[in-house]
Amino acid sequence: MNLNRRHFLTQASLLTAGALLPKIAFGQAQKIRVGLMLPYTGTFAQLGVAITNGFKLAVSERGGKLGGRELEYFTVDDEADPSKAPENTNKLVQRDKVDVLVGTVHSGVQMGMVKIAKENNTLMIIPNAGLDAATGALCSPNIFRTSFSNWQPSYPMGKVLADRGIRNVVSLAWKYGAGEEAIGGFTEGFIKAGGKTVRGLWIPFPNAEFQALLTEIASIKPDAVFVFFAGAGAAKLIKDYAAAGLRKTIPLYGSGFLTDGVLDAVDNAAEGLETTLHYADGLNTKRDREFRAAYRKAYTSEPDVYAVQGFDAGLLLAAGVEGVKGDITKRKELIAAMEKAKIDSPRGAWIMSKAHNPIQDIYLRKVVGKENRFVSIAHKALADPARGCKL
Ligand code: PHB
Repeated sequence: MNLNRRHFLTQASLLTAGALLPKIAFGQAQKIRVGLMLPYTGTFAQLGVAITNGFKLAVSERGGKLGGRELEYFTVDDEADPSKAPENTNKLVQRDKVDVLVGTVHSGVQMGMVKIAKENNTLMIIPNAGLDAATGALCSPNIFRTSFSNWQPSYPMGKVLADRGIRNVVSLAWKYGAGEEAIGGFTEGFIKAGGKTVRGLWIPFPNAEFQALLTEIASIKPDAVFVFFAGAGAAKLIKDYAAAGLRKTIPLYGSGFLTDGVLDAVDNAAEGLETTLHYADGLNTKRDREFRAAYRKAYTSEPDVYAVQGFDAGLLLAAGVEGVKGDITKRKELIAAMEKAKIDSPRGAWIMSKAHNPIQDIYLRKVVGKENRFVSIAHKALADPARGCKL
């Protein structure tokens, strides 16, 4: 009886207090629940860390609040393992009831996340994985990407090589969605610009035993090799390719994931490698200089493309939440604010395509020392074709 009475009194006083406050104050006093689903172990571990750092930097530059609300983080290591993707995504969506999912790196894991985000209508920001379908055939109002489609950074390298008179290329990549789509983008650009053949060699993800494949490349003698690798696997390929003595006879090219975030791990084996990507060292803009200084100060390490993509995911969420003054129950307005955001990115300002993927410049870069130094713009304001998207 006593307990019940106390309970009643507590409820009654809460109701009275609530009646005196503006209605939305209760909802906005709650923290925004952010689910970070990224790889923190395995070949992509460093990528997950850089994305997390970048995201949190964007939030801390806003005093730790977006639209007046603090953030609460829920973190899951997805291990870049597609078979665990449904279970891991549901930890955040069903168990932790996050307001927004931020993830991930690996396209196969992303496929699992996209399915669940669509079923539950969970807001999702992709800070890396290039899975073409995420902003293509499976595009959705609640799915945004701040990185690239797999097609996007590889396509411009096709023309770069064709313009140099290269006609016959061997491609080498991990045999999974991202590898296949990256080689697809390169091949499309290469053939369109006058290239003749692209012969595909493949290795299962995340295998990095390259010897047999390098021997095969030496016997084929193509004009050049184009690869898709990232993280620890990319570092291993760079070292093995140089050690095999192939750099002098068969030039190696790739999308810039080959050399981003790995230069400390390869001594000087990457020197001179040319790649295409939506970020570069030496852009020398005020925005990029400020970002780099802040990142260095916060984490005592150099930012890379993954840090930028995580930072931009924070900027995009900020644009949405600030657009509804913290009231994220206004889903339509939140999405509209994200769609029309102009992201003031360290890579250069960019806007969203209709399919929710960045329209962005792709840079040609060259490794000089520990830098992926800007050479030129390989393709200005490149939009993914978004095949199959009906947004
Ligand atoms: C992907 O799986 O989509 C992926 C992974 C790592 C990268 C780029 C793309 O660096």
